[in-house]
Amino acid sequence: MKHKSIAIDGPSGAGKSTMAKRIAKELGYIYVDTGAIYRTLGLFALSGGVSPSDAEGVKALLPRTVICMNYGDDGLQHMYLGGEPKQGGKDVTAAIRTQEVSDAASKVSAIPAVRAFLLEMQRDMAENHDVVMDGRDIGTVVLPGADVKIFLTATPEDRARRRYLELLERGSGEAYENVLREVMERDARDSGRAAAPLKQAEDAVLVDTSGKSLEESFQALLKIIRERIA
Ligand code: DC
Repeated sequence: MKHKSIAIDGPSGAGKSTMAKRIAKELGYIYVDTGAIYRTLGLFALSGGVSPSDAEGVKALLPRTVICMNYGDDGLQHMYLGGEPKQGGKDVTAAIRTQEVSDAASKVSAIPAVRAFLLEMQRDMAENHDVVMDGRDIGTVVLPGADVKIFLTATPEDRARRRYLELLERGSGEAYENVLREVMERDARDSGRAAAPLKQAEDAVLVDTSGKSLEESFQALLKIIRERIA
């Protein structure tokens, strides 16, 4: 039987992962965070002393890049570098969440050879499970045949404000203006690149979460998905 797939794309900070996680739980699907895969490669480049902007250097790393993922008892998507945990792979689930790795992920993800290298891994997940997959090119490139495609967005100011509050909660004193600038820079990079840029698939439903609470956004999405999956 063909598995069901829900693609959620959009810029960073629109609430994709929060929404995708809740929807996956509600429907009993697996949540696949594809950004975590790019982040793991970004971390591999950084730890090998390769600049994430150096396309040739990153490409040279690919033949010895082994990225694995699994779902722990905690239900979280764990990422490993160097193999499965039982083969000595290193759990990098927490290490990929820094600002430095975020930036590196955005840079390595613009390299076409990187996107081709990571494509199969993402498609395999959808072939073997019912998935809610979030990223930038899921509806356009990874799963063009997805059952439901959502393009989740919000204004840059709204997304920066959410990120600013998140950082504040974690004790960071980062100024709002800096967070907004980073959001806009990442948007420009993710949308402006030649390889699989962030863009809405023609058959995706646009959902703008600006000014909406998490609950309002979640209910709106669930309604759209239920109507299309039924
Ligand atoms: O969703 P995220 O912030 O964890 O993603 C990190 C970076 O990876 C982001 O800047 C763009 C890139 N990315 C991508 O190009 N394609 C995807 N499907 C997911 C992420």
